Amino acid sequence: MRQASVALLPLLVALAGGSVFAQDAAKPVPTLTIKADQVSAHVSPTLYGLMTEEINYSYEGGLYGELLRNRAFKDVHGAPSAAYWTAVGGAVMTPDASTPLNDAQKTSLKIDAAKATKAEPAGISNAGFWGIAVHPHTTYAAALYAKAAPGFKGPLTLTLKGADGKVAATATIAHVGTAWKKYDAVLTTGDIAASKDNVFSVTTSAPGTLWVQQVSLFPPTYNHTKNGNRADLMQLLADMKPQFLRLPGGNYLEGDTIAERFEWKDTLGDTASRPGHRSPWNYWSTDGMGLLEYLEWCEDLHMEPVLAVYAGYSLHQERVKAGDDLKPYVQNALEEIEYVTGDARTTKWGAQRARDGHPAPFPLHYVEIGNEDWFDKESTYDARFAQFYDALKSAYPKLQLISTITPDQPDAKRVHSRTPDLVDEHLYPSSEGEMEARAHEFDTASRAGPKIFVGEWATRVGTPTPNMAGALGDAAWMTGMERNSDLVVLESYAPLLTNVSHAVNGRDPETSMQWPSDLIGYDAITSYGSPSYYAQQMFSAHHGDVVLAADAANVPTWTWLPPVRTHNGVAEPQKPARDVPSLFFDATKDSATGRIYLKLVNRNPTPQPVTIALTGVTSVAADGTQVVMKANSADDTNSISDPRHIVPVEEKVTGLGTTFTRDLPPLSITVLELETK
Ligand code: AHR
Repeated sequence: MRQASVALLPLLVALAGGSVFAQDAAKPVPTLTIKADQVSAHVSPTLYGLMTEEINYSYEGGLYGELLRNRAFKDVHGAPSAAYWTAVGGAVMTPDASTPLNDAQKTSLKIDAAKATKAEPAGISNAGFWGIAVHPHTTYAAALYAKAAPGFKGPLTLTLKGADGKVAATATIAHVGTAWKKYDAVLTTGDIAASKDNVFSVTTSAPGTLWVQQVSLFPPTYNHTKNGNRADLMQLLADMKPQFLRLPGGNYLEGDTIAERFEWKDTLGDTASRPGHRSPWNYWSTDGMGLLEYLEWCEDLHMEPVLAVYAGYSLHQERVKAGDDLKPYVQNALEEIEYVTGDARTTKWGAQRARDGHPAPFPLHYVEIGNEDWFDKESTYDARFAQFYDALKSAYPKLQLISTITPDQPDAKRVHSRTPDLVDEHLYPSSEGEMEARAHEFDTASRAGPKIFVGEWATRVGTPTPNMAGALGDAAWMTGMERNSDLVVLESYAPLLTNVSHAVNGRDPETSMQWPSDLIGYDAITSYGSPSYYAQQMFSAHHGDVVLAADAANVPTWTWLPPVRTHNGVAEPQKPARDVPSLFFDATKDSATGRIYLKLVNRNPTPQPVTIALTGVTSVAADGTQVVMKANSADDTNSISDPRHIVPVEEKVTGLGTTFTRDLPPLSITVLELETK
């Protein structure tokens, strides 16, 4: 993080002092003076957004609507595999490379159902990603490619069955021919109870042999988008009112190797023609969530894409040399941008997008070159960044280009021979104390350099999803970003999603989570927001367009001992303890209405009285509104079985004015809305 001595120094001075953990009788009540007629910054209209990648079964078994696991018979790492499929009724199933569907799906599943009878149909079944959710009075779209050996006479029966063996829905494919063909069917449930431990099967009661590929089952999707997304998760995301989506990663952009990078061209068109690839989080992606699906996700939630393009570095220290070797990758990025933004009639890739089903171009203002290139041990980013920068700026002068390195530690890794428009900072402290200790960093950061995109960050306290301590650290940090959103113009928490069905942190594909502390958790049937999710929502849904200048006096502090860090396995010297505020705030105003949004964070486990004085206003209405999220313990959290243990509550408040005192609840985040003139 760059440091310089400008803006808001008086605030820091006011915050520095004392080391008492909680307010006591001897301590004066903190006073926050909000200068309603002094604008210190404009709130970036794009400040609050989302970051996404294929991690923690975010799409497969998550947001992407597909309910069946291993529809392409490639799990786990692309090798022919019948994993997650079970033979039923005495069938024998074999991954078969001699009967390919096409170049992208070279292995099909051969089903030898020689013993099938009416009494005991034979075939295959799939239990989904830790279950298949089934709801009453709902229609499911099934599809599969199939071909049969000569003589096969049977219809195929598609069945959704509960754990109790009861049939929830069924459909029939009357006849399967001897050439590959796609078959579609719908399964409609009746008056059943919603459940998640269902099994989908494809069976025949006539003996014979057949091959299948792309065996798929979709629930109704958000906005009924074809090949679309799970509705409950989309609704949680919509409720955050995000302005942008950083896609497609993260490590997922880069892949462990160059061959495993996110190659957007392989993610277009019919899902049957997408080869899929291994995610660096160690499981298989069908690429059903392809570039167009990402863009449609943006469209569905009224967000803009922040497009990260592959920049020639992959995580296992594979890199493409700047110069001629890198040229095809730069060209690929130019074409990707054309696919997103190009005219459907006059550009090659705009026309391809139209053929893929979306004639209208998408808005695009930000492109990020790579991801976390400081991990490149040979420090080749500057040359690669410069080559991308020159080509992209020349073709698209208005695009804002984001560098993945920050110039805070000037060494070879952090040189920029082209000045980026923005730099992407990532931070993942493992304690709320550290996040709180950093909450004022931007107050004194230089305004002379690039703008800042805090593209990945989280207070990593709580697993699989953060607890209230995490949310308090997040909220403290967000007051700093919002207060300085002339500099911090984009922010996105990461990771966004985790499947919590088998949330043992690890790289075994059988675990549903590879990175603990994720904003939103879900299993096959339900989902929930963590306290950190609600903190994000409180900030993104409640703010004005300008930041107001403010002073603080008597802000209480506590003593924070920085964690001991290790470098190459060796412990670094302990950094000295620091006094850190336990009360955080920022104020924004809607300049059209005069409404002031005052955010207040009390990280102490005791009530915190605060006096608030507003200057530069004629009047403040006595009645207002507040949204408060609080907990009895910092360890309190939400979970799949207790999804709304901690949620924000909106309530009316009275007794407001140009000066008033309020008690902030222990361990709380408050947005106080004041109507001013
Ligand atoms: O958010 C998880 C990972 O953290 C991202 O993939 C990567 O960019 C960062 O290191």
